[in-house]
Amino acid sequence: MIFYFSGTGNTRWAAEQLATLTGEQLFFIPEELKKEHVHYELAEDERIGFCFPVHGWQPPHIVRQFIRQLVIEQSQNHYCYALVTCGDSIGRTMEILNKELAAIGLHADSLFSLVMPESYVCLPFMYTDTPEREKEKIDKAAADLQRYGFMIVNRQSGEVYTKKGAIPWTFSHVIGAYFNAHMITDSKFTVDADVCIHCGKCEKVCPTGDVRLVDGLPRWQHDDSCTCCLACYHHCPKHAINYGTITRKRGQYYFK
Ligand SMILES: Cc1cc2nc3c(=O)[nH]c(=O)nc-3n(C[C@H](O)[C@H](O)[C@H](O)COP(=O)(O)O)c2cc1C
Repeated sequence: MIFYFSGTGNTRWAAEQLATLTGEQLFFIPEELKKEHVHYELAEDERIGFCFPVHGWQPPHIVRQFIRQLVIEQSQNHYCYALVTCGDSIGRTMEILNKELAAIGLHADSLFSLVMPESYVCLPFMYTDTPEREKEKIDKAAADLQRYGFMIVNRQSGEVYTKKGAIPWTFSHVIGAYFNAHMITDSKFTVDADVCIHCGKCEKVCPTGDVRLVDGLPRWQHDDSCTCCLACYHHCPKHAINYGTITRKRGQYYFK
């Protein structure tokens, strides 16, 4: 089984590749969380995979919330791995993940990071990649994934994540901690009513159901369900959705 989260599609693509290589089933974490219990039984020799993007040098809130509720029967001796996608660096995301997993009796035997096109654009100096850089990253990621897939299929242990960044502890536990405590919010999303074409894409792509259409325009629920994955912003065909004013001159990206 592969549990995954994805906002703009990078991690979905990677998780789908791993599902094809391992022949194991995909579970989309926001869908699973709608169930009363997140309780699973493993087939003989089945692997347990977690795939998600890094958010502020930590696993996204929704992934941590899911793991805290997760019950997997008889998970001892089953191979477990995690793959994290990032635009640039992951800090101590893996250590934080393994702490969460330890609390439910799991441990990731192998850990992989995959550099993918950047999706975060809501702070100064944060931009989408150029089309050339996007292609370069995806081509390299496709090759890396084959390598990781081989390791996973063969249940090899190892840490294949070199992209921790220059000051990983500070990134995750100081900057990332502040970011995750204060900046994962839908309070800054706006829509330009005269630009919106009422296509409803924002509602459709929101993984948590936070975006709902009211009179054809997106409305964010302000109920803490937003993961700030920016799917609504990046998929808007008219760039009518913004996060404060900073994204007005930013590009858009989602995995195609
Ligand atoms: C809220 C948020 C925070 C992010 N934080 C980081 C980060 O700390 N380090 C990094 O390299 N990329 C960061 N990114 C970029 C994403 O991790 C990266 O683009 C990822 O592949 C997106 O995956 P997805 O398309 O499956 O959502 C962040 C993106 C978002 C939306």
